[in-house]
Amino acid sequence: MRHLMSPLDFSVEELDQLLNLAQDIEKNPAKYAHACDGKKLATLFYEPSTRTRLSHEAAMLNLGGNVMGFSSADSSSASKGESVSDTIRMISCYADICAMRHPKEGAPMVACQHSSIPIINAGDGGHQHPTQTLTDLLTIRNVKGRLDNMTIGLCGDLKFGRTVHSLIHALVRYSGIRFVLISPEELRLPDYMRQDVLDKKDIPYKEVVRLEDAMPELDILYMTRVQKERFFNEEDYVRMKDFYILDKKKMGLARKDMYVLHPLPRVNEISVEVDDDPRAAYFRQAQYGVYVRMALILTLLDIHVD
Ligand code: NCD
Repeated sequence: MRHLMSPLDFSVEELDQLLNLAQDIEKNPAKYAHACDGKKLATLFYEPSTRTRLSHEAAMLNLGGNVMGFSSADSSSASKGESVSDTIRMISCYADICAMRHPKEGAPMVACQHSSIPIINAGDGGHQHPTQTLTDLLTIRNVKGRLDNMTIGLCGDLKFGRTVHSLIHALVRYSGIRFVLISPEELRLPDYMRQDVLDKKDIPYKEVVRLEDAMPELDILYMTRVQKERFFNEEDYVRMKDFYILDKKKMGLARKDMYVLHPLPRVNEISVEVDDDPRAAYFRQAQYGVYVRMALILTLLDIHVD
């Protein structure tokens, strides 16, 4: 049985197959409409979500399956003190596959040690968010036609942003990848990511504070929200929250074929005036999230459609 805890759980070849499957699903949805008839997905969300929970549910419904779950810890037995390991033992009896989001790093990993069904990590604290990475990879591959030989700008909250951590883990396995890390001093990429991932693999990167300085050299700009819920005090958050605002003027500094991604939700970091720019790929990215999660559910349940 397979789980998805980190993007590294799939080899580059397996990722390629999964992205190809997602692309086939996009082109031929009818072919997959009954692939999961009779199967159930449980979504256990101990932390708020819109896209991640609903796109997992849409994915299972599009495959002909059913969904159940909860969307906050308050409405589950966690509020009575039940442990993740006890909850997942029960859910294993009710569902065929489970997507879990939790504020604590490693909670989905604990769940998979007690589970008899595949678990998908749908975001654990400031750690990882592998299904967002699958979505990001599919988007980059679709807009740029490749996943190698690119300069990727990661901008915003690189300290707490789990989507950034997972995306770096996945991208360093492709050749010719270079990063520009754009953040305020306080929200720099954590040491463990710089030393254990970038330095260890000799990945070229530079750190800059001003977005304007980075714009001209980027192939992809990955914007992120300042992760309010992970701050220890409100004052620091207020000081950081509008540090970056991508607007038309800054887009004018970028290449014609530079695309902007954002895992969403956005707060103020991308002005709405950028939405009409053909290089704004973030809403398309959210749509790709459904296809890639359909491909993931089929892969983890080992269901093949001819
Ligand atoms: C991201 C997350 O939850 O980490 N959202 C998402 O899943 N699309 C990014 C964020 O909340 O800022």
